[in-house]
Amino acid sequence: MSFQKAKIILDTDPGGDDSFAFLWLMSLAKQGFAEIVAVTSVDGNVHAQLTFTASAKLLTLGGCGDVEVGRGIIGGSDSDDVEDAGSIHGADGMGNLSHTLPEPTQTYEAARYSDEILIEKLKAAPGEITIVAIAPLTNLAAAEQKSPGVLNLAKEIVIMGGAFEAPGNITPEAEFNIAYDPEAAKLVFDTCNNLILIPLDVTRRLVLTPLMVETIGQAKPDSDIAQFMISLCQFMTGTALAFRETEGESGFLVHDAATLAYLFYPETLGFQRAKVWVETQGEWTRGKTLFDRRNKAKVGANTWVAMEVDRVNLLAVMAEDLKLIL
Ligand code: BDR
Ligand code: CA
Repeated sequence: MSFQKAKIILDTDPGGDDSFAFLWLMSLAKQGFAEIVAVTSVDGNVHAQLTFTASAKLLTLGGCGDVEVGRGIIGGSDSDDVEDAGSIHGADGMGNLSHTLPEPTQTYEAARYSDEILIEKLKAAPGEITIVAIAPLTNLAAAEQKSPGVLNLAKEIVIMGGAFEAPGNITPEAEFNIAYDPEAAKLVFDTCNNLILIPLDVTRRLVLTPLMVETIGQAKPDSDIAQFMISLCQFMTGTALAFRETEGESGFLVHDAATLAYLFYPETLGFQRAKVWVETQGEWTRGKTLFDRRNKAKVGANTWVAMEVDRVNLLAVMAEDLKLIL
């Protein structure tokens, strides 16, 4: 049986947890398991210009500076009711550490828009590319609106987002990536037949601690990436505790990294098959995700939803891979 590298487009809004997912993905690419086809940045945790710069800097840091970064579509939703998450991730989305990272050669002004890149790459390689979407789904929805059917050309779309039995994190019921642009999310969940969803039900259990990150860093203490990871973890731990995200445990939630666990270590997750709906109207529930949990035939099911996680082993494989990017 021949081994095929996973061809991945990362749709992202760095983001402390996006940054750790980024580093993990670059480690997997370095090990020969993945090819990063493009990065499509998007407005979300912080403004689109900042998520573009953060993406380009992270790629440069990880030795992948030649990967194209797209600039995000702004204003995909008519909603202004969810603010960005700079209070959690830092004003630059990276724990205010952006200035410590190498300057990229790519510029926001000269970059192509993310939806254009998605359309071009998916059409050029139908059925081959996996989209790892760890941010609001604005870019994906824009691509689908411009080129209907294009998202179903992806091999799979692995999304971090939503909350089912777990409470929300940006409102009592809704998770940030979905609530930031619920119309975009609804379009994706109503259109696609190739979806994997990793919701808060799983990711709220993934606490990465300063001790774990220091242990990773000990593999090569002088490395710039190790220093960046340790400082970013310290910052994120501070805000995670302030926002009571970890039930008092010292550490922060690596939501976005769980998408890579599905692709490379699927034994760490357990799934249910479902048709996922996105609430766009509710006064208190806008941006909530739900599916029919009654014991009925799964009519129209289009999504595998992760509802169980082996948190110890997921964090362990992530830590081991992160050592290999240092
Ligand atoms: C999601 O929201 C963002 O703040 C994180 O980066 C993650 O993608 C978690 O709800
Ligand atoms: Ca994110």
